[in-house]
Formats: sequence, structure tokens, C-alpha cells
Amino acid sequence: MFKFHAIKLRINIRPPNSKSQGFWLHFGLAIATFVGIICLAVLPAITQQPVTVKVLIQALEGTQWEPLVEDFNNEHPNLRLEVVKGPNNTNLVEDLYTSAFLLGDSPYDLVYMDIVWVQKFAAAGWLSSLSDRVTETQLDAYLEGDVNGGRYEGKLYRMPFRTDGGMLYYRTDLLKEIGAEPPETFEELMTLSNTLQEQELVPWGYVWQGKQYEGLSAMFTEILEGYGGFWIDADTQEVGLDKPEAIAAVEFLRDTISEGISPPGVTTYAEEETRRLFQNGNSAFLRNWPYVYSLASDSEIAGKFAIKPMVHQPEHGSGACLGGWGFGISASSDNQDEAWTVIEYFSRPEVQIKYFLETGYVPAKTSLFNDPQLVAKFSYLPDLLNVVQNPVLRPPVAQYAQASDILQRYLSAALTGSQTPEQAMQAAANETRALLKR
Ligand code: GLC
Repeated sequence: MFKFHAIKLRINIRPPNSKSQGFWLHFGLAIATFVGIICLAVLPAITQQPVTVKVLIQALEGTQWEPLVEDFNNEHPNLRLEVVKGPNNTNLVEDLYTSAFLLGDSPYDLVYMDIVWVQKFAAAGWLSSLSDRVTETQLDAYLEGDVNGGRYEGKLYRMPFRTDGGMLYYRTDLLKEIGAEPPETFEELMTLSNTLQEQELVPWGYVWQGKQYEGLSAMFTEILEGYGGFWIDADTQEVGLDKPEAIAAVEFLRDTISEGISPPGVTTYAEEETRRLFQNGNSAFLRNWPYVYSLASDSEIAGKFAIKPMVHQPEHGSGACLGGWGFGISASSDNQDEAWTVIEYFSRPEVQIKYFLETGYVPAKTSLFNDPQLVAKFSYLPDLLNVVQNPVLRPPVAQYAQASDILQRYLSAALTGSQTPEQAMQAAANETRALLKR
């Protein structure tokens, strides 16, 4: 049999002692406060994810951004700038942004924009206005063309970062060898190229962007300007593509190919292909943007080339197409203020100087053209200011993407010989007129 034993619990209930009760009360309170602080302040800081600000950018520049992105992220532990690298072609990046916006909630908070996208993106309502974030006095520090290119119906949608202008690169050593000055006119460019090629000093005379893409339109505006022509007058909507000046401009480009000054493959070249040809010593002249300067200074033609404004007809002036990149904020982003923090960071003079010293891109801030550090490395900068202050604009119209597409198609047809320059430019002008009437 089991025997159950009663267990007696003896509880000592002592009379309350007020001194020890006070101690325990204070101790409890201190613990509670400590735990409270941990919960309210320290834990969220440990567990909270930083807010991600996402941007899409051409791969080449995305790589050049890396040190800046690292600095930004180190300085802003609560933010994380995430860079998505896209193709090295402005149209393709524009298409990727466009499809993201059309799908609704864009995955990109920041929009790193070519100057020619702004009208379309702003008209579609895809961008937030930046007008309340920046004063007109702050904008006065930037090149006028870059600021105006970022406006749509009176509001600012793009904060300028870097400007661009097309120019002529030439081989100083080769010209010295034949005792010639750099060319001023289209004809001189052809004659000098011919001489250099005949003397077998260089395989090709001149390389330029002839592929069917945005770079072709940008390059063509400069040739057009040099012949005294125009594309679309944004004020009157007049189209000048079928005028004799425009046809002469196309004929010049065609002649460079048919006379063997430019390689036949030029109709498939974008900026990078032409840079490589020039940099490897295969061409005497090159049309390109300023970014080439620093890269070519690190190549086998280092110290053997210089830049100058584009060639033109004797009775007309040089054209430098206004290009350039800046920041917008996607209207559908939940991180508007965080995106602006990134823009503010990229607008700091010291950040810009570091970036431009490294890459050779051209600042959109006027004062930086005379910055001692930048001028010590890029001695042409003060002269370049004058060039980029008087640029040729691609037409600032909301239908720009389609207008450029029309021009690219017909230019390409004329350059590859499937249409005559007259036929092609007549058709381009008609389609552009129809587009603007729609
Ligand atoms: C450069 C210019 C840009 C232009 C593009 C064409 O990136 O900055 O404005 O549209 O070249 O390829």
C-alpha cells in the first residue's frame, strides 16, 4: 500500500520592512527603464532595415559611380543607394524606364535622365516636380541649357548633374607630321583625312556615330548646324529636314563613307566603338563627347591628341549638341525625401569634383569649369564653358522620342544607301510634320 504523507508548507511571512521595499521598487524601476530604452531606441536601430533608393543607369557610368555610392551609403546608414546597371545606350535605358512606368509602380525611386527624356516623362506624369525643393538662386549656379532642359510647363523635373557637348578629337602628332593645322571646315576635314590616309599614316580619316540610335540624332544636329540647317523649330513647330541644308548635311556623311574617309562599318558604330578605333590609333579624327578625353589620355595615343569645336561650312558656325544627365524622382516612389537626399549628395561640389576628376565628365555647375583641381587635369575646361553655353538643342518637344526615331530611321536608310538623301529626308520631314500635328 502506498502511504500518502501530508506535506506541510511553511511560509514565513515577515512583517513589511519599508527600507528594503524602497530598494526593490527602485531596482525594478531602473530595470524597467533600461529595458524600455533598449526596446525603444537600440533595438529598432539594430533591426530596422535601411530605406533603399533604387536607380537604373547605363552600365559604363554605373561602374564609374561605385566609389560615390559607397561613400553615400557609408555616410547614410539608414539609406541604401542601389544601382541597377542597364545597357550602354540611352534609348534602351529610356525604354526600360518607360516600361517600368507604364506598368504602374516603378521599381526605381530615382530617375537618372538624359536631357532628351524629360519632356516625355514629365508630360506623362511619371516624375515628381522638384520646384519646391530647389530655389531659382540655387539653379542659377548651373548652365542655363541644362536647367531649361529639365523644365516642363514651368516646373523643374530634372536636377542637372553633368553636361555634355559634342566635339572634334584630332591627332596632333599626325597633323604635325604633314605640317597642317586642325580643320575648321567640312572640306578641310576631308582633305586632311585623305592626305593622312594616302601617306599611310593612319587607316581611317574620320569616325562618328552612324548606328541607328539616339547618338545618330545627336551627332546629326551638329552637322546640320554646321550647314546652317535645323530639325524642328520648337516655337513654330516648323520642320527643316527636307531643306537643302539638311540634305547637304546627309550628303557630307555619306561622302565620308563613299570616299573611304570613314570605314563602312561606321553605320553600326555608337560612341564606344568610335572611341576604341580612335584610341587604338586607327582614325585621325573623331566626333564624340568629352568623356573620351580621360580614357584616351590613358591609352596609346596619350599626349598625341587634342579637342576642338566641330567643323562647319565656312559661312556657318560650329555646332555642339547639348547632351547631359541629371536626376529626377519617380512620381510613384514611396521614398521621395530619401531620393532627394541622394540628389543633394550628388550635388555637393566636393562629390562632383571627385567624380569629374576621375571620369572626365563635364560638370553642369558653371563654377566648376574654373575649379583649380579640375583645370589642372583638364586644361580645356575654361574654354569648353563657352562651347557648352552655346549649344545646339535637340528639339525640346514632348514627342521627341518619336521624332528622333523617325530621323534615325531615315538617316540610317540614307547612310546605308537604301534611299537617296533627298528621298530619305523628304520622308523624314513628312512623317515628322504628321507627328507634330497629332
Ligand atoms: C550622351 C549624351 C546624351 C545623348 C547620348 C547619345 O550620353 O549625354 O545626351 O543622348 O550621348 O548617345
